[in-house]
Formats: sequence, C-alpha cells, structure tokens
Amino acid sequence: MRVVSVVSTKGGVGKTTVAANLGGLLADAGLRVLLLDLDSQPTLSSYYALSRKAVAGAYELIALNLTEPEQIISETVIAGLDLIISNDDQGQLDALLLHAPDGRLRLRNLLDKFRPGYDLLLIDTQGARSVLLEMAILASDLALSPITPEMLAARELRRGTLKLLSELEPFRHLGITPPPLRLLLNQVNSIRVDTRMIIRGLRETFAGATNILVLDTVIPDRVAYLNAASLGLPIHRIEAHRSRERRSPSALETMQALAIELFPEWGEAISTASKYAKVR
Ligand SMILES: Nc1ncnc2c1ncn2[C@@H]1O[C@H](COP(=O)(O)OP(=O)(O)OP(=O)(O)O)[C@@H](O)[C@H]1O
Ligand SMILES: [Mg+2]
Repeated sequence: MRVVSVVSTKGGVGKTTVAANLGGLLADAGLRVLLLDLDSQPTLSSYYALSRKAVAGAYELIALNLTEPEQIISETVIAGLDLIISNDDQGQLDALLLHAPDGRLRLRNLLDKFRPGYDLLLIDTQGARSVLLEMAILASDLALSPITPEMLAARELRRGTLKLLSELEPFRHLGITPPPLRLLLNQVNSIRVDTRMIIRGLRETFAGATNILVLDTVIPDRVAYLNAASLGLPIHRIEAHRSRERRSPSALETMQALAIELFPEWGEAISTASKYAKVR
C-alpha cells in the first residue's frame, strides 16, 4: 500500500480538490483507494456521496486507535473508493497528539491494519501547521503539495511547507525517513506571463534538490473543478475531451498524467480509467 499525504501549510491551494480527483481517478482505474480526511473542516468527507456511512471516523482512528473497518471505513458511491470521514469537529485531535508520547507517529503505527485492503491511502490535511499534519507526513512515503502560481504562495512554501519538512529531519534518528516532496502547480492560468515566469523560477530553484521535485503536470484553472465538486464526481468523468476552442489537455488527460507521474508502476491501469468518462 502506497501512502500519500496532500499537504501545504497554506490554505485554499487545492489539497482537497487534488485528493478527491486523484482518488476518484485511481479508483476508476481499478485500484483500491482509501481516503483519510484529517482536516477538521470535513470538505473531502462531503465531496462524494456515501453508499455506506460508518459510525466512526478519523477521530476514533487517531484518538482511540480504532482500526476496525466496519466501524471506521465509509464507502463512497464511486466503486473502489472508501473514506475515513473527518469527525473531529471540535478540533481536539491536535491537542491530544501534542500530549501523547507517540503523537507524531500514531498514524504510522496503525498503517499495517490497512495494507491488505488497499493499494493507496490518500490523506487530505488541514492548510496550517499542526501536529496532525506532521503525523500525516511521517506516515507517508510521498508528500504531494499543490501550489498556486502567485509569488505569495511560493514564499509561503519556503517559510511553511519546506521548513516543516526540514524540522522533521531529526526523525531519521528513529529510523523514519521524512517523505520526498512533489510540488504540483494548481490553478494555473497559462496565458499570464508572470505565471510562466514563476513556474520557471520554481523549477530552477529545485533543479538540484534530491528530495523535492516540481511535477511536469500542471493543473489549469478551470471552472470544471468547481462543477465536478458540486456534482460530487471526479473531474475525469465529466471532462474527458478537449474542447474545440482550447488546445490544452482535458481534465481526464491532466489527471491521468498526474497519476502516472506519481505512480508510474500503475500506468497501464491508469490508462483504463477513461472507460467511466461520460460519452459526449
Ligand atoms: N484547478 C482548479 N481550477 C479551478 N478551481 C479550483 C482548482 N483547484 C481548486 N479549485 C477551487 O479552489 C477552492 C479551494 O480548493 P480546495 O478546497 O481544494 O483547497 P484546499 O487546499 O483543500 O483548502 P483548505 O486549506 O481550506 O482545505 C475550491 O473552491 C476549489 O473548487
Ligand atoms: Mg481542503
């Protein structure tokens, strides 16, 4: 089971959008995907309608170490896509972890329970620094960080997400390697010149870095992402074709390219995900 957390210390950069759509695409590719919503604002938990709602969720998983699938795993209407809902509406988990001796390692220690049932655990997190976010990162073998192409977001990335990752380095002494970081440009408006400059600057900055990679796939700024969210569908199902007036890739192509860049070993399966896309 691969474990990927979608992280950023900045809010509103597209973490939940990426988690929902990537999870939906991989489930349609035949992979068994478990989403874990660790944001106390349960946006990911309400993205897809549920065909079965479990009585418990992320709170019981983290606070009580409850891993019983019957009790904590809900099923979405997308076949192969399950979800551990966020039910920490009081935001108590963070304080609880802060005072627990195993705090930052708790999720990592629970993962074995999910390995047989899933190919991928995809974790959505809150857009701010927290113990919960550190716990998610330390449980992951890859951290995926969406970034919007504004200067501010790039600066925040240095101050926030990169600093956080470097502060997790001491965990190496415990034999725990912090995951490599993949930066994903989101909400890109390719026409703007400053956008292109920022993207180039970002690539140059990390050209020599071993642990940080700017992904080739770029997610454009499209109203279709909002439409998909209101329909409760993964975007590749509703935008499978390029429009005549646009030369840029369809959302299906974009999400497939992203998935293949992250999980080259699943390339063949990922190319079959188009069978669920709506026929025009
Ligand atoms: N590529 C895109 N094109 C257009 N709109 C987008 C795109 N990506 C995200 N959005 C929209 O931007 C808003 C913020 O996205 P999202 O909720 O995914 O961010 P987030 O990082 O999860 O935010 P938070 O930190 O609050 O959890 C949403 O309304 C979403 O629909
Ligand atoms: Mg979110």
